[in-house]
Formats: sequence, C-alpha cells, structure tokens
Amino acid sequence: MAVYDVLGVAYARTRRADPRVAARIRGAVGEVGGVINVGAGSGSYETAGTVLAVEPSRVMLAQRPVGAAPAVQAVAERLPVRDGAVDTVMALLTVHHWSDPAAGIAELRRVARRRVVVLTWDQRVFRERFWLVRDYLPEAAAFDDARATPVDRLCELLGGARQEVVPVPHDCVDGFAAAYWRRPHAYLDPRVRAGVSLLAQPGEEILAPGLARLAEDLATGRWHTRHAGLLTLDALDVGYRLLVADQ
Ligand SMILES: C[S@@+](CC[C@H](N)C(=O)[O-])C[C@H]1O[C@@H](n2cnc3c(N)ncnc32)[C@H](O)[C@@H]1O
Repeated sequence: MAVYDVLGVAYARTRRADPRVAARIRGAVGEVGGVINVGAGSGSYETAGTVLAVEPSRVMLAQRPVGAAPAVQAVAERLPVRDGAVDTVMALLTVHHWSDPAAGIAELRRVARRRVVVLTWDQRVFRERFWLVRDYLPEAAAFDDARATPVDRLCELLGGARQEVVPVPHDCVDGFAAAYWRRPHAYLDPRVRAGVSLLAQPGEEILAPGLARLAEDLATGRWHTRHAGLLTLDALDVGYRLLVADQ
C-alpha cells in the first residue's frame, strides 16, 4: 500500500492549488507541448499542457477531478514512459517521499526532452526561518532532515539547475507545511496537520508537547509579541524552491 493511501484520505480538503504558487510553476514550465506530472497527487498545479499524471496512490488518484489529464499508477523511480516522451516533466512537493530520489530524478531526465521542474524546499532555510519547526517542533524538523534531499544534491542530480525562490503568501490556499506561517492557530487544527506529511507522519504523541507550548503562547499573546514583524508581511521566503533544469 502506498503511504498516501493512508495520508491522503482527506488531501483535497486542505490541499488545493494556490494561484500565486501556480503562476510561478507555470512560469517555470513555460509554453510547451507536453508535460508529465510525476507524484501528481490529486492534480494540483497541473498545467494546460499536462498529458499524463503519474501517481502511486489509488487514494490520491481517486481525488483527481473529472476532466483532469489521464493518470497512471506508478512511481517516479520506474516511469512507464519511453525516453524523451515529452517536452517537460514536473515533480511538485513529492521528491521527499520517493524511496530512491537519485533513481527518480534520473527517470525524470530520461523522459523530458527539454526541461525538468521540481518544487521542493531547502531544509536549511526552512529550519532557520519557519518558527513552527525551529521553536516548537524540532522533532518534526529532524524527521525532515532524514527525508529531504539537500537542494544542492538535487541540482547535481538534475545535471545543474536554476533555483527560484517561491515566497509563501500569508493567505496561501494550498495547506502545505509552512502555508500557515502567519496563521499560527491553524497548526492546532488536526485537519490542517492531516494534510501535511511533516505533521502527520511523526505521530501526535511526538508533536503534542510542542503543540501544547504553541497553544499556550497563543493564549498568552507571547507568540504575537515574539513574531510581531511577521504579521506585517504579505509573503515570506520559508525555503520553498523551484529547480529548473534544461536538458
Ligand atoms: C505532498 S503530495 C504532492 C502532490 C501534488 N504534486 C501536489 O503538489 O499537490 C506527494 C505525492 O507524492 C506521491 N509519491 C510518493 N512516493 C512516490 C514515488 N516514489 N513516486 C512518485 N510519487 C510518489 C504521493 O503518493 C503523493 O501523492
């Protein structure tokens, strides 16, 4: 059973494409003839040119909207597609789930004629700038240390790539890990945590002490005093990066 057959049960409830992040992805993909979306999940951010989605979880495949591109149940490490099948392959917020990122990236490069686009995050920046993992949930940060391939290593595997910063809007519609950086109460909501693997996979008992401290800091106003500067910002660089590799 794929991990997201469990994690993804209510994915579409909190995880929908954010239009500003979508614009950045469209810009990175460019005007191209055909795109394959690997680790496609429920199909967020699929561009008009998407001809195929690749996704291992049946639960996620079942959440794809009617009319979305055709999808195949498969993993990045073994794409069921011929060499150079499309102009562009994209893999969005998925590489950290792959059992063999090097094999998966090699497969993206094998299939893309022109460009590979990866949306991921820089764990060093994330750990420094995202108050939730830095100040309250270091255990969750350690979980990510173990699974996140360093961005420099991903660029190397991609044969060289341009890195673009993707700032997270304060009202980001897509509920990924740092989406609620200016809405701290959201992290106390189990439905929000269920949509974020970083907060769903380590287990509630590991996160409970840090979440209790967050609840207390919100109740006393300590969080708002400490983070007054954040409350004036519209968007924040929390480490999310688009890697754009031309073949
Ligand atoms: C956080 S979701 C992202 C989904 C989608 N790209 C998005 O941006 O909403 C991660 C997805 O990666 C998929 N995944 C996990 N292991 C994979 C693998 N080895 N190859 C391809 N996809 C994988 C999961 O099933 C899940 O749907």
